[in-house]
Amino acid sequence: MTAHQLFQPFRLKSLKLKNRIVMAPMTRSFSPGGIPTPQVAEYYARRAAGEVGLIVSEGTVVNRPASSNDAAIPHFYGEKPLLGWKAVIDQVHAKGGVMAPQLWHMGVVAPKNTSWQPPAPFEGPSGYVAPGKIGGVAMTEQDIADTIRAFAQAAAEARTLGFDAVEIHGAHGYLIDQFFWHPTNQRTDRYGGKTLAERTRFAVELIRAVRQAVGPDFPICLRISQWKLQDFTARLAATPAEMEAWLAPLVQAGVDIFHCSQRRFWEPEFTDSDLNFAGWAKKLTGKATITVGSIGLSGDFLGAFQGEASTPSSLDELLRRFDRGDFDLVAVGRALIADEAWTRKIDEGRSSELRGFSKEALATLA
Ligand SMILES: Cc1cc2nc3c(=O)[nH]c(=O)nc-3n(C[C@H](O)[C@H](O)[C@H](O)COP(=O)(O)O)c2cc1C
Repeated sequence: MTAHQLFQPFRLKSLKLKNRIVMAPMTRSFSPGGIPTPQVAEYYARRAAGEVGLIVSEGTVVNRPASSNDAAIPHFYGEKPLLGWKAVIDQVHAKGGVMAPQLWHMGVVAPKNTSWQPPAPFEGPSGYVAPGKIGGVAMTEQDIADTIRAFAQAAAEARTLGFDAVEIHGAHGYLIDQFFWHPTNQRTDRYGGKTLAERTRFAVELIRAVRQAVGPDFPICLRISQWKLQDFTARLAATPAEMEAWLAPLVQAGVDIFHCSQRRFWEPEFTDSDLNFAGWAKKLTGKATITVGSIGLSGDFLGAFQGEASTPSSLDELLRRFDRGDFDLVAVGRALIADEAWTRKIDEGRSSELRGFSKEALATLA
């Protein structure tokens, strides 16, 4: 197996990557009190030493009282967490790596456990955690303005700390996606509406504020998905036209890269074409895209959480799409948890040495 095409450099604004492999953002919950520990820095530095082109951090939450449901998820605000992140980026750079934090607000979510609760109720566009199910409060216009400011502040901190880009988590049924999705966004003000394009306003204002905070040359990546943790079959855009109406204002607002989350990258997004989600995003916007979902592994990550083990699989179909120009970068999740040297092994064609993934790998920060 050779994958030489993935080992071409990539440039976008101030971002310079040595190859096309991205470490996908993966929550690890090893940051007690929201503070990344020295072990977290070492974990990312090992992936940098393993030749990953761009590391996207686990989701790290912005400064809102209920942006997280887990006390061990890192904060991206406050003196101690930011010092922790400074150690992360310095160690990643020391190993020749490039990194973006994934800025996150969970929105209305179920509590993770009963022993720790955030100091305020979960907040979202309308208080819905899932269709028809209230799990928090509806945000006021002031809450919305403060949340947008919190994302912009975090993005500015990322740049000041020396990170190379930022990723905004707009996927998987969390806050930004709760605005996109009609069942969780029932607002009747300017942040709601019958069309997906109308429900994109919150994200547009947020991206605009982030752009203002980081300046014109600092890359902004937005992670999006059709599927949600609340409903794996949910779809925001049913047609390419709807998808274009969704993404075009986000491009206008300042998105440079769309990180298009699928569970299985080979699944076509619409009928009559085999283009996947990232392929369509690139075709419709002309922007750079990242594909993701079961790259190099036999089973998807939800199966993995249910205990299915995944074994290494061929990259042929990925490379066919990459060679066709469907996407610019490819994000790898579980394979990089299982093996910090995954990228180097792919580069050197050492396929017999690749490792599978089983969920026991999540128990430690190896
Ligand atoms: C343990 C774990 C934690 C994850 N946490 C996040 C997260 O914080 N933010 C996010 O956008 N996606 C998260 N994801 C999804 C991954 O980024 C990725 O899209 C998914 O695992 C599919 O890639 P894979 O098949 O290569 O693992 C997580 C996945 C796993 C396995």
